[in-house]
Amino acid sequence: MGLTFLGIESSCDDSAAAVVRGDRAILASVVAGQTALHADFGGVVPEIAARAHAERLDLCVEEALAQAGLRLPDLDGIAVTAGPGLIGGVLSGVMLAKGLAAGSGLPLVGVNHLAGHALTPRLTDGVPFPYLMLLVSGGHCQFLRVDGPQDFTRLGGTIDDAPGEAFDKAAKLLGLPQPGGPSVEAAARAGDPRRFALPRPLLDRPGCDLSFSGLKTAVLRQRDDLVAAQGGLHEQDRADLCAGFQAAVAEVLAEKTRRALALTPAPVLAVAGGVAANETLRAALQRVAAEAGATFLAPPLRLCTDNAAMIAWAGIEAYQAGRRDGMELAARPRWPL
Ligand code: KG4
Ligand code: ZN
Repeated sequence: MGLTFLGIESSCDDSAAAVVRGDRAILASVVAGQTALHADFGGVVPEIAARAHAERLDLCVEEALAQAGLRLPDLDGIAVTAGPGLIGGVLSGVMLAKGLAAGSGLPLVGVNHLAGHALTPRLTDGVPFPYLMLLVSGGHCQFLRVDGPQDFTRLGGTIDDAPGEAFDKAAKLLGLPQPGGPSVEAAARAGDPRRFALPRPLLDRPGCDLSFSGLKTAVLRQRDDLVAAQGGLHEQDRADLCAGFQAAVAEVLAEKTRRALALTPAPVLAVAGGVAANETLRAALQRVAAEAGATFLAPPLRLCTDNAAMIAWAGIEAYQAGRRDGMELAARPRWPL
């Protein structure tokens, strides 16, 4: 059955704890989101996030242990996200994990949040190395070739906004509710993606880097033109803008994925991050993978978005590879893979 680890995650706006076993069984996965707390502010407020993590994280751990029917001494180790992320939240998690490790004598492993996402296909599907990972979330966007539990090669990524951030900003510009991804996708269903000519940023440049801020600015310009011309936005305008924006995001991500697969052929293309929920994007990536002779893999959404099961799993893999951290484990707001 292998090792059993507690995982703790608090790098953005989800407080999470999970218990995972080395045979890939998820015994418990608790996620306490904070969407409602930040809803009035149009984005995650670091101070509010930090306070909420400090208040809830130990309850998440208690809940996860209860669901798993285990006590701390039954476990083999504790894994915690040590970065990258909002420093207040990461600190809450690292301090809690250190306290639990010191009290129980269990080994402590600091996990890179991005490694957690990147190793998720191994937790969900036992995918062997190597594979290509496209991480697309509200805070991150990168192509990673994954060759081992601590062996990641970044092939490219966004030079400005993450795609989820772009979806959220586009939604805000169009008066749609947050989080923007789902509301833009819903509005786009009734839209014509060809009505507005939106840019395809960086497509003309070689390599796998991406850019999304110009796309958001293009939506802003189209909106302002419509408002100036007709005094406001009609439902159909909104739908068409959403459809056009979504098609542009999917198209650039698909084309850059095609290049990444050409650059470093891999038998599996996997996605992670909240934006991986997008059906148009999934369909585009599926086509690209099929063309390249690769299998497309999208883990279940609850394991694509931020969670602690991926942290526990990455902790198990790192521990098996010899990784140990002590009380000197630092919280790192920036921590490139
Ligand atoms: O991975 P995630 O839950 O959190 C982090 O960013 O860490 O991703 C959240 C992001 C948000 O920006 C949200 O708008 C986006 O994922 N998202 C989507 C969809 N569902 C969530 N973007 C596009 N289409 C969706 N269906
Ligand atoms: Zn994440």
